[in-house]
Parts: sequence; structure tokens; C-alpha cells
Amino acid sequence: MKLGVCYYPEHWPEHTWPEDARRMKALGISVVRIGEFAWSRLEPDNRNQFQFEWLNNAIDTLWAEGLEVVLGTPTATPPKWLVDEIPSILAVDEQGHQRGFGSRRHYCFSSQEYRTECTRIVTKLAQQFGKHPAVNAWQTDNEYGCHSTIVSYSHDALTSFRLWCRQRYDSIDQLNNAWGNVFWSMEYRHFDEIDLPCGAVTELNPAHRLAFWKFSSDQVASFNKLQTDILREHSPGRDILHNYMGNFTEFDHYTTAADLDIASWDNYPLGFLDRDLADPIDQQKWFRTGHPDSSTFHHDLYRGVGRGRMWVMEQQPGPVNWAPHNPAPLPGMVRLWALEAFAHDAEVMSWFRWRQLPFAQEQMHTGLLLPDSTEDTACNEIRQLVSDLDTIGHDHQRLCDVAIVFDYTGDQICRIQPQGQNFDPLQWVMQIYTALRQSGVNIDIVPAGTDLSPYKLVVLANSISIEDGLLKRLKEFTGHTIIGPRCGSKTEEYAIPDSLPPGNLQQIIPIRVTRVESLPGFAATTSLRLAHTANRWRERIESTIEPADFFDDGWGYYYRHNNVHYLNSCLDPMSLKDFMLGRLQDAGINTIDCTEGLRLSHYGSLTFAFNYGPAPQTLQYSAEYLLGQANLAAGEVAVWCNAS
Ligand code: GAL
Repeated sequence: MKLGVCYYPEHWPEHTWPEDARRMKALGISVVRIGEFAWSRLEPDNRNQFQFEWLNNAIDTLWAEGLEVVLGTPTATPPKWLVDEIPSILAVDEQGHQRGFGSRRHYCFSSQEYRTECTRIVTKLAQQFGKHPAVNAWQTDNEYGCHSTIVSYSHDALTSFRLWCRQRYDSIDQLNNAWGNVFWSMEYRHFDEIDLPCGAVTELNPAHRLAFWKFSSDQVASFNKLQTDILREHSPGRDILHNYMGNFTEFDHYTTAADLDIASWDNYPLGFLDRDLADPIDQQKWFRTGHPDSSTFHHDLYRGVGRGRMWVMEQQPGPVNWAPHNPAPLPGMVRLWALEAFAHDAEVMSWFRWRQLPFAQEQMHTGLLLPDSTEDTACNEIRQLVSDLDTIGHDHQRLCDVAIVFDYTGDQICRIQPQGQNFDPLQWVMQIYTALRQSGVNIDIVPAGTDLSPYKLVVLANSISIEDGLLKRLKEFTGHTIIGPRCGSKTEEYAIPDSLPPGNLQQIIPIRVTRVESLPGFAATTSLRLAHTANRWRERIESTIEPADFFDDGWGYYYRHNNVHYLNSCLDPMSLKDFMLGRLQDAGINTIDCTEGLRLSHYGSLTFAFNYGPAPQTLQYSAEYLLGQANLAAGEVAVWCNAS
């Protein structure tokens, strides 16, 4: 794993760059990301009047210290002259207001004119710097979708959406049928009558909304591909990545990643806390360490998105500026987060940002240096990390017996019609992930198209509509499969399957879901024998299979057919942990109980133990520790070599 940092030479006087580069190098940094918001300095006044000299000097300065550069395309921030000249490049919100200039991500993915401008500047940049020896990778744009910017209700979006529908459906009748438009007289006579799904009196047709989500997702992918095609042509041999976000499912990341070499992501464990955890007691437990499973969930997810290649492009080094509250990490966490990333196969761990900026929006966001260039606290932890990585060595292989299939479309289907206010589809998958990780196992998070044969246990958590390919792989799979509630419950056109849920999954387990109920927070119900507590969601099943247990109103709980397990309720954390432990045992997977904030990662012959707190932990292994020791305070890490 290489160490990196995000750097903005355009924010600092040029005479300071050599000293910055020297200090980066001295700290152990070898990768520097630059340029992703610099359009107004690259093309300040007018179209095609480029100023590349400063960027050239910056890259040369970094290269003089042997630092590799990840060059960002600046398309997240179209400059003022361009916005004024072509206002239609701006995105339009649901109320029909054009997004204003003055921050970032104000463009509309569907604007052809904007795509032309992006083609122009990306081509020029790639021609100029694509073969520079320092430029080892490119980042397309920055955080697609940040600040709710995937969807736009512009005129261009409308035109493109109609075209997208035309290409997807043979005729308007077919579309009407597929969407069920006979309901409430929503039928269209022509494709040109189709509106964007906004502004209606009450709930819009979920099929219409799903189609618009898929369309918007495709727009991101084609916008990204426009850039990757140019970069590949003019900058051969360089990796191309995008920096995805945490807790974010507003477009299908797999589609975009098909044109990338690496999925990188931006990890702000304390910033994410309010989104990761609804429960204030849990938030209090982990407000200085982050949720023990949030970072690793995303490492595992993005490894899947990147077909095995994952970077952390931005990592929180101290308090950030954008969350509801911005606490300082517990001492040790900068090192701990980095070692977790390492043990989850991150190729690069890069902090955001080199130096805290004394002006503009992010002046309260810490960096590795204070605004006056003295070191902030993260630097010492990074020095420790450099020595740790030296001790641990780099040749390890991460093996996983367990895979969770993650499906962006399924996530979206549940968001469009949640059916219960407290059913958050992403949190549900994360809860399943936590329950498994609490048994000390490594987990892969994979797309539906993955070969399942290497795994002993596969979990379908949000696969709401099952594609034929996945069904085929499940039929051939010889390990154990857990199917969670709601899986298989919709067709790809957002309808209830003819055979009732779980639809085509009935080919691997003979059950029919004949009723579902969502439950308010106060209405948990406990199964009689296993004492598992169902909350939020419960399904009544008809089957020839005897359930493993019953609730007191006679509804069955948990159905098993050969190696296929159907979980028909959401469970509280303790019950879910117990349920998952049982299935890990069924699949013959070794487990180790991890209590509270203790977590394990297995990496080749090494085991890592991380204590996310709040209490100290004593490890029960008579091991020789490479790092740390048996008594781990919150924020500490131990690493040992497993007996062979
Ligand atoms: C990210 C973004 C960066 C910076 C950072 C602050 O979402 O990519 O540009 O804004 O957050 O934490």
C-alpha cells in the first residue's frame, strides 16, 4: 500500500511547492492527487486560452522528489465564464430551479453542450500531461453525485430520457404495460408525452421513477466513459479511477466502474457517523472512532466495484467541516484506519488534504499541516504507520469465504417504495455485514455477476429483482445461500412477480410470501424458540417446508431448503448476529467472537485486531505479536502471525 495526499498547488504560492514536495516525501508519501477543481486556473478567461505552465511546474516539482501524480479532470467545477456563456449546462432541481454558480457540481450530466466542453478540456489536458512520467493515474471528475447532483430535471434531461425510453421499449404500449400506466389513467400516447418524474400531486409511479433512476445512472456512466476514452487514447498505460463516496447509492457504481481500472473512495469515518447510525447510544460509543464496520464495509464494497482494485483517495486526518458535528478522532485512529485499509487490500491510502486552507468553504477542515505549515497531529501517526508497514511487509493475500451480493438497483427499489419508514436498505445490508464481521470473518461484497464458486456462504441482502444470470449461478452454487427479506420481490419493471415473492428464487427454495408487514419502532416481535427479535419488516410464508421457529401469532420464522436459507424478517443486532453465526457454522466456516468494538481482519498468514472501543480489549491468543500486544486500548491495533 502506497501513501498519498490530496494537494492543491493552485491554492498556494509557487515558491512553497518545492518545500511541500520535500516534506511529503520525507513523511513517506509517494502519491499526490492534484488538479480536480482547477478549471478556472487552466482556462481562466476564455475557451481554448489554456494556461498549463503552472500545472506543468507543479507536476515537475512533485516529480523532482519522485512523487507520482494522480491528475484529476476538472469537470466538477465549470468556471464562471462558461456557465454565463451556456447557462443550459446547469442542472435543474426538482422545483425547476437552475442550480447556481458559487460552489461545485453545478452541471447537468445530460447537457450535450457540457459534454462538448468536457471533451475539449479533458482532451487538451490528456495531450498535455498524459505522457508525463510523473502522471501515473487519472481521476475522472470528483465524487459523482456529491451534494445530490445525479438527477437533473433540465430540458436536456427530459429529451434524453424520452430517447432512453424509446430505445428500451419497442412501443409506447409496451412502456405503458411495463409501467402499469393504466392505473390512475397515466397512459401515454407517444414517447414525447413522457415527463420527468417530479411535480406530481402525490406518489409517482414507482416504475417511472425506477426507469428515471436507471437513466440517470446511465448518464453518469456515459459521461464518465467520454472521459476515459479520451484518457486512454492520449495517456496510455495509466490507471483511471474515480473517487466514489461513502453511504451513497444514488447511481449504479458498477456500470460506471466498467470503464475504470480502479474504484477509489473517500473515507470520512467520523463525518459519516450520523448516516451510519440512527441510534444515539451507538453514535456516542463511536463518535471518535467511527462505526467499527463502516470503513471496512466500503473497502469491501469498492473492492468489488473495482474488480479487485481499490484505493482510498481521501481519508479523514482530523475534524472535517461538513458533518452536523465535527469531533477530533481518538489518538491512534489515523493509524488504525490506515491499517484497516491495508488489511482490506487498499493499494493507496491518501489523506485529504495536505494543508488546511485558511480561506473559502473548507477552512475548518483539517489537513496534515496547519494553515501555517506546522504539522498537525496526523503526521506522527503516519510516521508510526510507515514503520508498521515496514514491519508487516506487503505480500499478503486476502481470502474470503463469505460474500454479500450488493445490488444498487435493489437498493433503489426499496428507497422508491420503502413500505416502512424505518427500513433503510443500505443500513440493512450494513447490519448484515456487521453481524457477519462480529464473528471474525473476512467478507467480500460483490456484484450479481460474480462467480460465486470460491465462497462457502453467499448472502443476498438487497437483490430485490433477480437477473437470470444470478439465478443460474445460485442454482449451481454448492455452498450455503442466505436470502434476506424482500429479495426477489419485484420484477425488473417494478411489479410483483406472477408467482409472488420471492419470484424466480422459488426455483431454489419452495416458498411464497403471502403477506408483508412493516413495523414501527415500538412493535418488535420475538420468535418462540430461538428468541430472535424481528423488527421493521416481517413476511408471512406459505410453504411445504416447516419453519425453524414461529412467532406467537403463528407466522413462521426462517425457512431452510437444502443449503438455501430464507430469512423472512429484519432482526435486531443480537438476533442477527446469532442467526448469521448459525449459518457460518452450517457452512463450516471458522468463527471468532468479536465483542463490542473489537474487529479482526485476516490477511495472508497475519491476523489484525482493531479496537474501536469504547472499552479496552484483551486478546485471547497466545501469539507473538508483530505489532501491539494482547491488551488493546481503544484505538489500538495488534498484528500477529497465525501458527501454520
Ligand atoms: C469530499 C470531496 C473533497 C472535499 C472533502 C472534504 O467529499 O471530494 O473535495 O470537499 O470531501 O471532506
